[in-house]
Amino acid sequence: MSAKLIKGTDIREEILEEVTKEVAELKEKTGKVPGLVTILVGENPASVSYVTLKIKTAHRVGFTEIQDNQSPDISEEDLLALIDKYNNDDTINGILVQLPLPKHIDDKKILNAIDPDKDVDGFHPVNVGRLMIGGDEVKFAPCTPAGIQEMIVRAGVETSGAEVVVVGRSNIVGKPIANMMVQKGPGANSTVTIVHTRTKDLAAHCKRADILIVAAGVPGLVKPEWIKPGACVIDVGVNRVGTKISEKTGKEVAVLRGDVDFDAAKEIAGSITPVPGGVGPMTITMLMVNTLKSFKFANG
Ligand code: GUN
Repeated sequence: MSAKLIKGTDIREEILEEVTKEVAELKEKTGKVPGLVTILVGENPASVSYVTLKIKTAHRVGFTEIQDNQSPDISEEDLLALIDKYNNDDTINGILVQLPLPKHIDDKKILNAIDPDKDVDGFHPVNVGRLMIGGDEVKFAPCTPAGIQEMIVRAGVETSGAEVVVVGRSNIVGKPIANMMVQKGPGANSTVTIVHTRTKDLAAHCKRADILIVAAGVPGLVKPEWIKPGACVIDVGVNRVGTKISEKTGKEVAVLRGDVDFDAAKEIAGSITPVPGGVGPMTITMLMVNTLKSFKFANG
């Protein structure tokens, strides 16, 4: 292996320790701690496990946390009323409505009802707009792109003037990370290209990348010959390609594979994120960072 491994699991520990320390200091100074509420509608098993981990992490860093589980039959009106209640609760700094929502509820209407100043997911159109403007306007960057940028910076990868190629144009990863990397400022100042399913020559674009960010959701899409020697490769893909029996627990667990052919790519890249243990752990970590930020905005 020649590439340096950029481990999200290690960076998560560093950041969560920083957040825990700051929360303890703020508690000492103000007598208050940040509050996070997660709203889960129904019992989708993946959503239940994400929300449980979000709440556990919030507890670990010293936040007040509320796990508000609602019946899958809740009406849109009642869900809007619940959001309104938390919008008006001064002890709550972050409101997260776990997606997907049941079909009878309009996601957009729900996300747009969250106070943009408590929208720690960064999905509200006001926060999408603030991110586009950049600089001091930005309140909450969406958690996965924020985590990607943090990993690149903490790995010591030069971004200024770098050719960044983003594979994928989703609203939660591709478009925001491209926007963040092109902004003026530290950890950015890059030259950015977004490529997607209609791009004519994906390989040619990827080969030019000093930093290649892949969020396509296609296992093994990026081949080793598409990687520039020494490039930083960030693999956002978490694709379930089968199941296996865990050696630790003896239970059946998912086999995860990224969008990059990791074993071959690590011989060419300068640095690379693994799957699992790469970008994945960063999303919840940045949710904690955003909730702490929100508390600081609200408490001067
Ligand atoms: N469902 C899957 N990922 C996410 C996320 O980051 N935020 C929310 N609210 N729902 C999700």
